Amino acid sequence: MSDSFNVVLLAAGKGTRLKIETPKPLCLALGQTLVEHVIDGINDFKGEDKELNFGIVVGHKKDEVQSHIQNSYSKIRFDFAHQKEQLGTGHALQVFFNDFRESFKTKYTFVTCADTPLIHGEIYQRLYEKIIESGAEAVCATFELEDPTGYGRIDEGENGFSIVEQKDASDEQRKIKKVNSGLYLFETQYIQKHINSLDDNNKSGEFYLTDLFSKEANVVTCNFKEASDFIGVNNLIQLSEAENFLREKKINNLLLSGVQIQVPSSVFIEKTVEIEPGSFIEPNVRLMGKTFIGKDSHIETGCVLKDVRLEKKVRLKAYSYLEGASVGANSQIGPMARLREGSKLGADVKIGNFVETKKAELENGVKVSHLSYVGDAEIGENTNIGCGFITCNYDGAHKHKTKIGKDSFIGSDCQMVAPIELGERVYIGSGSTINQDVPSDAFAIARQRQVTKEGMSKKFIKKK
Ligand code: UD1
Ligand code: CA
Repeated sequence: MSDSFNVVLLAAGKGTRLKIETPKPLCLALGQTLVEHVIDGINDFKGEDKELNFGIVVGHKKDEVQSHIQNSYSKIRFDFAHQKEQLGTGHALQVFFNDFRESFKTKYTFVTCADTPLIHGEIYQRLYEKIIESGAEAVCATFELEDPTGYGRIDEGENGFSIVEQKDASDEQRKIKKVNSGLYLFETQYIQKHINSLDDNNKSGEFYLTDLFSKEANVVTCNFKEASDFIGVNNLIQLSEAENFLREKKINNLLLSGVQIQVPSSVFIEKTVEIEPGSFIEPNVRLMGKTFIGKDSHIETGCVLKDVRLEKKVRLKAYSYLEGASVGANSQIGPMARLREGSKLGADVKIGNFVETKKAELENGVKVSHLSYVGDAEIGENTNIGCGFITCNYDGAHKHKTKIGKDSFIGSDCQMVAPIELGERVYIGSGSTINQDVPSDAFAIARQRQVTKEGMSKKFIKKK
């Protein structure tokens, strides 16, 4: 049988140093909250086969934090412990085991913080290997920093080591560059034996979890070279640094998978975005949420996409803004197009500049090339919509639908007063305001006849 694990994720702290209202675990980095990044790392370690109890200590703004976590991971059962007063990281761990005493039966316990978003699955795995190899009762993940300010320093003894917080450290200890990452793996029995002996005799008057380590104990460090994986977010500078590391990591993964990114430092691609190989991303592009980009697509400069699905070989021309839309293969969008929520475009569709679509289904081969609004509409295959087309979909109280059948031609500057339905192979003369249904194969025109009066222009053209 494989080993059983507890994870205790500490997320109760006030995050005072951020100086913002948002509770720290819910601060965003690369489109996800810090705590989600941490949970994802743990899930990667867990994989399919490990048995893992997931505990989270909440406190400051607990309802907000707890409901965010539970809503984001509806399939995971979390044991939430409530730390009413934030008396320190050691106290948070005490609170957890007081609330969930049966967790003491688990063989190993990871303790991790909600403010170290770059810690990933392989790091947990490495700690697990280390505790087995070393025969120690606890392992602390450490790394080295030229400027260790703010982190707990690793003060090594003959056997074990102690962890000294910045505030409590002597001048000598402050020079130590090896620091505590805030991630630990314990034999759970070790916690059970020592958790109640923690005290608050230190400069902060807090119960430090780090006091579980001492020079006399059978504990080891597991030192990691990649310091960026352990950045802790205590202030907004560190939040932006952490976000930048996450961003670089995402972009490097994409580059290595065959996605060309012209100026990597200029693009913002959230962790949840998927891009298939062969695609090309120009500078200053922002891709968010559950966006998927099919292979060999090309995203020109300045495009912003949120929760968008592009099939293969789509070209998005410069400065287009897409949200909640899907686009079929070989389509061309933009420049400066706006596809809003519920826009469903088939293959080989062409959307030109200054076109807005919303809740619109455009079947294969539809063209809307210039300056139009297509809202609450269904447009059949290969229909061509001229310049300056408008669906008048709103009567001041309700939205209404426009349907236009396939192979139709709508002249420039036409309005469709919805609800309205046009059949297939319909031809609408330009400048028409259509407010009655048009059957298939019909021609419709709805504009005043032109009046021309020869020689009369001089009445209107005034000499200066
Ligand atoms: C902690 C470590 C420090 C380490 C650093 C790494 C201690 C005493 N110090 O310091 O050695 O180098 O992390 O990033 O542990 N929390 C609670 N309840 C509390 C206090 C904190 O749940 O009463 C949670 C916070 O929400 C946070 C985590 O514990 O997620 C760490 O707390 P924080 O105040 O950020 O500790 P650091 O000062 O960074
Ligand atoms: Ca911290």
